[in-house]
Amino acid sequence: MAVKNIEKLNIAKSLELFDEAKKLVPGGVLGARKPSDFIEGEYPIFIEHGKGGRITDVDGNEYVDFLCGYGPIILGYREEEVDEAVIRQIRDKGFCFSLTQKYQNLLSKKLTEIVPCSEMSIFLKTGSDATTASIRIARAYTNRIKVMRSGYHGWHDWCVEMKGGVPEKFYEDVHEFRYNNLTELGELMARYGDQTAAIIMTPFGHPLHRKMEEPEPGFLQGVREIAAKYGAVLVFDEIRTCFRLRMGGAQELYGVTPDLTVLGKGMANGYAISVVTGKAEVMMAAAQKLFISSTFFPNSDAYIAALKTIEILERDNVLDNIWEKGGRFLKKIQEIINKHDVGAELSGVAPMFFITFKREEADPRRARAKRDDFYTQLIRRGVFLTPHHHGYLCYRHTEKDLDMAAKAIDEALAYVNEKHQKKTS
Ligand SMILES: Cc1ncc(COP(=O)(O)O)c(C=O)c1O
Repeated sequence: MAVKNIEKLNIAKSLELFDEAKKLVPGGVLGARKPSDFIEGEYPIFIEHGKGGRITDVDGNEYVDFLCGYGPIILGYREEEVDEAVIRQIRDKGFCFSLTQKYQNLLSKKLTEIVPCSEMSIFLKTGSDATTASIRIARAYTNRIKVMRSGYHGWHDWCVEMKGGVPEKFYEDVHEFRYNNLTELGELMARYGDQTAAIIMTPFGHPLHRKMEEPEPGFLQGVREIAAKYGAVLVFDEIRTCFRLRMGGAQELYGVTPDLTVLGKGMANGYAISVVTGKAEVMMAAAQKLFISSTFFPNSDAYIAALKTIEILERDNVLDNIWEKGGRFLKKIQEIINKHDVGAELSGVAPMFFITFKREEADPRRARAKRDDFYTQLIRRGVFLTPHHHGYLCYRHTEKDLDMAAKAIDEALAYVNEKHQKKTS
């Protein structure tokens, strides 16, 4: 294959806006939207609009987008039925009141039909709201303090990765174990089990920057048994996996039911809503002992979006569509990876997948250099996948989008192969 090094994109307006933003917002943009979370100087920074599975940046470059808003876009951007339902609600009834509208009951009832552990729910706005509320509920229910955790759970004091501004006392009772490492959890629980309020974990392994991991046989069952043995509340953080792997999340896919679960991203196609749901006995601690409240939690725009999104997901068998086309897509990508043999690895499953590069012991920088070249070539070809986070498939990704992405991956790997093999030979 003749390997083309495509020209760098024109992202002048993005850079101009970013220069302005640095004077207005600390760091210019927040958290995982920073240019350093992509490849600086190559990826756009500001988005203008999106439709279906594609987005367009402020310079007019169009991309097939596999980041899907970091996960909430399960149908596609500007999904008319969802947006129309929200607009109708805003126009005809209103969505922000001093009291609650009936949609919380409808949504809570719906979740009991879909999510295996769901008996009662409380609705919040962000994933971090929900993970933090689940820990508070577990602590109130058990009258214990310690927490065992595995995975990313948001930006709040008890779990944020960067510890700046967080007193140690806020996380000193939180202990981490590695995904698929039952021994590590067993040892921690042997030591702290009688003080442990909650074990919170992503039931599917999606660690930052690293390959995705499915649960090894017996792993989730083993965690379930350990939680039961010590009387700790088991919380599955299904913020990414619910309404994506299955309607009822990884707990449905793998057949292990936690006491509580937190979800949000895929539920409302981009509108801000998150949920703690689970066994009534545990959830009732929230009503009896806790104050969980926010001005915006009851706003019904997101409840309406969630009800409509769930209706579409069920009516149109959306997840079957994603698994089916995603399965074919990943098979093709695996063949492309095998063909080029440059140390690229595909992990994950059809709805959530990641391309990483094998660490080379002799020179760890080489994998990083290959990765950066690969993702640079992809973005230049109009494919928005990123080096630090897995991709998602959404319903509106078309065969044309996927063919374009596969071709770009093929060409980008050919480029990496030629550049890096030349260097070593
Ligand atoms: C598994 C998981 N838990 C919690 C969160 C935090 O959610 P939010 O960013 O909405 O606060 C995220 C966000 O990416 C997540 O992926």
